[in-house]
Amino acid sequence: MKEYDTHEHDVIVIGAGGAGLRAAIEASSMGVSVALICKSMLGKAHTVMAEGGAAAALGNKDARDSWKTHFRDTMKGGKYLNDWRMAQIHAKEAPDRIRELETWGAVFDRTKKGRINQRNFGGHTYPRLAHIGDATGLEIIRTLQEKGVHMGMDVFMEFTVCELFKEGDRVIGCLAYDRQRGRVHLFKAKSIVLATGGITRCWSVCSGSWEYTGDGHALAYWAGAEMGDMEFVQFHPTGMIWPPSVKGILVTEGVRGEGGMLQNSEGKRFMFNYVPEMYEEEFADTEEEALAWVQEVISDQQATKRRPPELLTRDVVAKAINSEKAAGRASEHGGAYLDISWRPPDQIKRKLPGMYHQFKELAGVDITKQPMEVGPTAHYVMGGVKVDPETQESTVKGLFAAGEAATGLHGANRLGGNSLSDLVTFGRRAGLHAAKSATTIDSWTEIAAEDVDSAIAKMMAPLSRSGGENPAVIVNDLRDMMQEKVGIIRNQESLEEALNDLEALRARSANSSPGGGVIYNPGWHQALELEAMIDVSKMCALAALEREESRGGHTREDYPVPDHEKWGSLNSVISRNEQGEMQIEHRSYPPIPEDLIELLDADDLEGGH
Ligand code: FUM
Repeated sequence: MKEYDTHEHDVIVIGAGGAGLRAAIEASSMGVSVALICKSMLGKAHTVMAEGGAAAALGNKDARDSWKTHFRDTMKGGKYLNDWRMAQIHAKEAPDRIRELETWGAVFDRTKKGRINQRNFGGHTYPRLAHIGDATGLEIIRTLQEKGVHMGMDVFMEFTVCELFKEGDRVIGCLAYDRQRGRVHLFKAKSIVLATGGITRCWSVCSGSWEYTGDGHALAYWAGAEMGDMEFVQFHPTGMIWPPSVKGILVTEGVRGEGGMLQNSEGKRFMFNYVPEMYEEEFADTEEEALAWVQEVISDQQATKRRPPELLTRDVVAKAINSEKAAGRASEHGGAYLDISWRPPDQIKRKLPGMYHQFKELAGVDITKQPMEVGPTAHYVMGGVKVDPETQESTVKGLFAAGEAATGLHGANRLGGNSLSDLVTFGRRAGLHAAKSATTIDSWTEIAAEDVDSAIAKMMAPLSRSGGENPAVIVNDLRDMMQEKVGIIRNQESLEEALNDLEALRARSANSSPGGGVIYNPGWHQALELEAMIDVSKMCALAALEREESRGGHTREDYPVPDHEKWGSLNSVISRNEQGEMQIEHRSYPPIPEDLIELLDADDLEGGH
């Protein structure tokens, strides 16, 4: 059997985006030994794709804001499928987490009075997003990394974790390979935090890079953890669509927050036609009113007008762009036009420097003069590991999850900006409770040699096969299939086909042969990732097939509206049964207490949520 190195740490954090770094910082501050394992280079995380800001009710731009309004907006945006306990914790704690980042060196943009500046985003009642131009996630990662490297944690870069080990119902370690040197590593742990981000590489048009193959989601599922709400995938309305080489790259919602307007091929500002009933009172129905709102915001006044419909929630805007395309009113390359050029060039370059350069360099478009062309891109999964709202512990003892790997906070649809504040709020909690849990255990548990040997054999298996397909071909086929059949709009037939297709892909994958050796062999890595991609895609397709209604990030052509009577507040829960088969059931979170119900919109609740 292949040799391996062995490590012992109290807490292992898998994933080094915002949630992982924040968890590792907190665990380290508790005095336990911490390993931070990341699949890529430190700093290369999907967190940087949250460009426009971190949502927190600081009330710096509009003093009317409070945690209560943030809670209400988050629940409404999530179509009331959120774990209200997480939504409450998040709304209350996010402001402290943002101020903490500032004390750690994050250079937030300032208001004229020198306070952390906040911008508007979809679904937020007030300007709430603390930001650094349009590179907020990047600055947060930089800040957390700088803080983290001084905390004494061990960092393992370019390590991919393939297996979690358990004794009884508790997690005791994991196995990883080192891409750079091709060595295998066994990590013994007292507790583990999964902060592996999302699954959106399972779609061919997505905003994430190669890392987001759902490894953490799959590891948790294989270890027996319950998974929730996997049918809810967020298609961010504005990704680049042209040229083809950049399709899917994010165009921050900050463009719309700063007054960007969406237009169709006829030059019509179409979002006015798509305001859902539940938002009618809050959004402008004329261009004049929308413009008046923007003017108030730009001149630093408290907004008195109703918001422009471009600032509806992402699920609504993405579907509207899709509908315009279906009606034959798409932009030249099949999306919509997003125009901010009515604002003075110096303001655009100051507020959105990344977007200015991105379009100039990648598409040859000067956004101070021309509209951008945009379309939906798979950006985020609301579903993930089911966790205790206070501790972030999964249903497997000692296994915690935070950020996009976990579920609960965002319900059926996440509000833009709630991801960065989620990462630091629940990353901190996961690190804290993982460290506490680790201190209840005296020593590391031996991991049985046969378990390690069989995990290594599985890891090496693709390299011993020959004559099969290249795994990259299967990955591409999976991504195209998911885009077509489990995309922004689904139906029974497409979902049933997808489930069959996934089993065919599984069979092909079992015979795939990447060739080559263990050092920097992307084909081998893809062969291993495929297992996770197939299972997370199956979770998504299965949950989507079962949910015979449309809500948030899940739209069924054959069941086009929410069915409150049948589905009410039911969340989907997926787990693995004793035969190793995927099973699904539906359950609700505990009822929302009266004092919190009062904060929500009575009209929505009467709809049966
Ligand atoms: O559009 C954006 O800047 C993305 C933010 C987010 O996903 O939270």
